[in-house]
Amino acid sequence: MNQDELKQAVGRAALEYVPDNCIVGVGTGSTANCFIDALATMKGRIQGAVSSSEASVARLKSHGIPVFELNTVDHLPVYVDGADEINRQLQMIKGGGAALTREKIVAAVAEQFICIADESKLVDVLGKFPLPVEVIPMARSYVARQLVKLGGHPAYREGVITDNGNIIIDVHGLRISEANKLESQINEIVGVVTNGLFAHRRADVLLLGTSKGVQTLK
Ligand code: A5P
Repeated sequence: MNQDELKQAVGRAALEYVPDNCIVGVGTGSTANCFIDALATMKGRIQGAVSSSEASVARLKSHGIPVFELNTVDHLPVYVDGADEINRQLQMIKGGGAALTREKIVAAVAEQFICIADESKLVDVLGKFPLPVEVIPMARSYVARQLVKLGGHPAYREGVITDNGNIIIDVHGLRISEANKLESQINEIVGVVTNGLFAHRRADVLLLGTSKGVQTLK
């Protein structure tokens, strides 16, 4: 199977975690898109979805799946999303698609986080993928200087504005051995909205697409 087929396989496998009649949390990215397409096959059995980005809202609506505002929903049994990197503790780097803040909010509300990924995303140590940080625009230079003090090499992601009207700084050169600690340290920098480390709220289940089939890690 090629990478696209692996993404489609994990997108379909995630349907097993979606209870009938629920509102489901939906992530962002090419793997999440495969889940959205699979979800369309059971749209009569769910109430609808809460989305982590405008891009996913558009894809959900194109399938006729009702989209709810998160503030109108008090119970989300499951959130399904991809990752840029994930380790065996199911801690992740996310935000390659710049949707990290809304992803973290929806993931925080959900009872279960199901990560769907092809096998290229599984790593021993997080940090080869540059860590995205969402930043209030006027704080860009200050935040970059603070990120250098934490050992990173920040790069402004040119031409990208998040759904929340902010900018993204990608932090290169990190080898992340203490993900919980680094997540907190970066979030303490004034001007940071949030960063793409999902360590405090890691995934509960990883559905990993491999050449031998979909593997489940917990
Ligand atoms: C979006 O901001 C990200 O967190 C995505 O979930 C992540 O980049 C994975 O995307 P792909 O499934 O396209 O690799």
